[in-house]
Amino acid sequence: MNSLPLHKLEVMITAEEIAKRVGELGREIEEAYPHHDEPLLLVGVLKGAAVFLADLIRAINRPLEYDFVAVSSYGKATQTSGEVRILKDLDASVQGKHVLVVEDILDTGLTLRFSYLIESLKARHAKSVGVCVLLDKPSRRRVQVPVQHSGFTIEDRYVVGYGMDYAEQYRNLGYIAQVEFEKEYPD
Ligand code: IMP
Repeated sequence: MNSLPLHKLEVMITAEEIAKRVGELGREIEEAYPHHDEPLLLVGVLKGAAVFLADLIRAINRPLEYDFVAVSSYGKATQTSGEVRILKDLDASVQGKHVLVVEDILDTGLTLRFSYLIESLKARHAKSVGVCVLLDKPSRRRVQVPVQHSGFTIEDRYVVGYGMDYAEQYRNLGYIAQVEFEKEYPD
């Protein structure tokens, strides 16, 4: 008895392409933080970045810690309303640490910009604050966010998989797919 709607999914980025790019991002991040005695903290934004973060940390060959924050924006599942709530804060101090915020997808830019993630991390005396996103949708940008590391630039399509959801579904796909909403199947 499954009442979940099924959507037609079209593969946009394969698991192999993701793995290759995550490896490259790992090398980029190693080069960006060359001094291994300087602490590096990767901060994943729940829930979407969890899968990406899990792969990314294992692609980075230097000492690091990771933590998660949770933010929630009100509004429809496929639209970012611009209003953000902080649901889970960091466990430990960021003082003196290089902090790299890891997001699944940079869409309008509001989550990263107006949540406490960047400004507040700076205010808490992080040594530096960087941003790493798996996917960038620049056509939707309303607020400029400086992104140091970006996996893929994509068109304005709603995507799922590899941690990203539609109504909490599809996070477990190993690849990234675009959703075709018009063609919903009956239960
Ligand atoms: P924004 O950059 O503030 O607009 O918000 C980005 C957040 O919106 C992401 O972290 C996702 O949680 C969500 N989001 C935006 N576009 C998509 C999409 O295509 N698929 C799944 N989630 C998305």
